[in-house]
Amino acid sequence: MGLTRSAEGDAVIGGLSLSSLVETRTIDTPAYVYDVAAMADELLALRAGFGARAHLVCYAVKANPSGYLVRRFAALGAGFDVVSLGELSLCLACGVEPSRIVYSGVAKTSTELDLAISSGILSLHAESIEELERASARAVALGKTARVSLRLNPGVEADTHAHIATGHDEAKFGISVADAAEALSKTRTLPGLSLVGLSSHIGSQMTDTEAYVAAARRVCEVARASREQGARLEFIDLGGGFGIDYGEGCAAHPADFVREASRLVEGDLGGLRLLCEPGRSLVGAHGVLVARVVQQKRTPSRGAVGWLFVDAGMNDLIRPALYAARHRIEPLTLDPSARTSLFRVAGPVCESSDDFGIFELPDPPPEVVVIRDAGAYGHAMASQYNGRKLAQEVFVDEGRVARKSDVGSVDSWVKSRL
Ligand code: LLP
Repeated sequence: MGLTRSAEGDAVIGGLSLSSLVETRTIDTPAYVYDVAAMADELLALRAGFGARAHLVCYAVKANPSGYLVRRFAALGAGFDVVSLGELSLCLACGVEPSRIVYSGVAKTSTELDLAISSGILSLHAESIEELERASARAVALGKTARVSLRLNPGVEADTHAHIATGHDEAKFGISVADAAEALSKTRTLPGLSLVGLSSHIGSQMTDTEAYVAAARRVCEVARASREQGARLEFIDLGGGFGIDYGEGCAAHPADFVREASRLVEGDLGGLRLLCEPGRSLVGAHGVLVARVVQQKRTPSRGAVGWLFVDAGMNDLIRPALYAARHRIEPLTLDPSARTSLFRVAGPVCESSDDFGIFELPDPPPEVVVIRDAGAYGHAMASQYNGRKLAQEVFVDEGRVARKSDVGSVDSWVKSRL
């Protein structure tokens, strides 16, 4: 459900009133608060989109790399898409079966290849012919067979921000369709490799299915060609990228993407298991960043819009600065009769890009605000820039605070620099 409002206008997450969490000091700002049950429902709704089709939803751990979520999703039949030693190790430490893990990334180190190969994950998604050669060498050295798939770059433009498009000709990701034949032959001739699938991921925050389906068609063409050459594929993985509604609408639901893909990957390819790698769509709408107003600054000489400074900054949520993303900002308690003004909401970080945008808020301003749709790529991308503590993370599940991280502190930051 993400953020809802009680009859009194209180912000509610997972059935808990955020103002009571703040008043009782159960949370300390800035704090990310997540509705885990709603995230679990998102996963189940997506799984339903596959109908009777054999599938595996591989949660893209990078969106919100939390052990609590990994364990919760694993219990609901999810797999995982990882991109680093850290993410792979987290999943293994959470008891995820290696046969449910796929590993993407253009520059996997030998240490990363070794852990992936020796733990026997479902697929190492190779992003270049050179990577196939390196994986082969590591597999031989380990005396193992590496289960690999080719991550294809289908040459499709996803209609999204340039920084999060990955499937076009200029992107660093994947093996271009033109090079697929050579890559396929490498998987046959290099020792220690077993080709098990094909994958692609063309970008993030797609609000319609057109580009996803276009990419899927190209992947299917390569799947047919590789089968003709004797490949025994187990799956096709069409990646993630399903958009969410940040307040400006999102025509397609996550299940629409997989429903259309399922229809496409039919007939001779119907026996293949279908995978997807959603990150944002499972968790994004079901998390908020709670921030306390520090002070305002009136600038009558520069027009009517005043500054409203909060205790969360771009180090806590970098999406507005990095992608010009707009995250709705609302008061903790909504009073429809309150007088409002426009405020430019900004954080304390010494960068002009530490600016969340202009919002209509009660005037005088509330003590605490809620920054919406921050469940994906929020805390995951946070840093301690400017010597700031990391925001607290609070996981609400089944109507209670199921887990929370320590209130951040700058002590470790100071110690590591002494
Ligand atoms: N699979 C691969 C190979 C990916 O690179 C990604 C995201 C995903 C799956 C998951 O995509 P999703 O379903 O979350 O769209 N930091 C940016 C998003 C970067 C996405 C990077 N790759 C943001 O805050 O918008």
